[in-house]
Amino acid sequence: MSHSASTSIVVDGVTKYFTLRYQRTLKQMTVAAVKGREITDTFKAVDDVSFTVEQGESIGLMGLNGSGKSTLLKLVNGIMRPDSGKVLTRGRIAGLIATGAGFHPQLTGRENVFLNAAVLGMTEAETRRKFDEIVEFADIGRFLDTPVGNYSSGMFARLGFAVAVHVDSDIFLADEVLAVGDKPFKKKCLARMQEVRAEGRTLFYVSHAAGSVRKMCDRVIVLEQGRLGFDGDVNEGIKYLKYDPDEDMPPEVDDDEDLGADI
Ligand SMILES: Nc1ncnc2c1ncn2[C@@H]1O[C@H](COP(=O)(O)OP(=O)(O)O)[C@@H](O)[C@H]1O
Ligand SMILES: [Mg+2]
Repeated sequence: MSHSASTSIVVDGVTKYFTLRYQRTLKQMTVAAVKGREITDTFKAVDDVSFTVEQGESIGLMGLNGSGKSTLLKLVNGIMRPDSGKVLTRGRIAGLIATGAGFHPQLTGRENVFLNAAVLGMTEAETRRKFDEIVEFADIGRFLDTPVGNYSSGMFARLGFAVAVHVDSDIFLADEVLAVGDKPFKKKCLARMQEVRAEGRTLFYVSHAAGSVRKMCDRVIVLEQGRLGFDGDVNEGIKYLKYDPDEDMPPEVDDDEDLGADI
């Protein structure tokens, strides 16, 4: 692995196991216990993945549902630890990994902005300075002063993204951000992420939308059942994603409307 002063993220032989706990009846569990059978199953959600990202690169992380994209982002973010291998990151990390994460349901939107910003490493003074900008970006109107427990997933995403994007970070991670937002909000998020990119921050963007990945990213990483399937050129990566070339696929919509993200 080549490390240099401009290296932003190193993921080196990273594996993450999860345990599946099947729903069992008491009788089935008793039988399993008596016969010494396992009622759980472990599998690798991320399987021996390695790559290096230079500061300022913009990565489109793609792959089918369940291929390990969110898990990989959580490992990069540090909210999960790998079972083997190592993850190194340089600088401050911000982003939106799961909508509603880091929010307290009984506090208002306003209070949660401060809470969330603190969790992301912003001082109170810094948050105060950026507060109006954050609120303007979220654009949730009078709901700002109501408990977020009653927010829709779209409103959560708006507030979460607004805070995350105003943190001065070196790395910005965006997972499932755009999936729940409406079209005007998606456009605003994409424009803001372009700014993040122009500022020289490292961008990790999970999306199924080839159009927005083409606009936003200079490299594509594809996960397949937790394994690194592809790492390289954006167009080649998108081509790689077409698993079944014989399948009759409708021509791809690739314009500004193609803004969907991970679901
Ligand atoms: N906390 C968890 N416990 C057990 N299994 C999990 C957990 N989180 C994710 N998984 C499983 O790991 C696999 C990868 O999930 P995920 O990283 O969310 O995929 P993606 O984001 O690509 O859709 C899936 O099979 C998912 O069900
Ligand atoms: Mg996911």
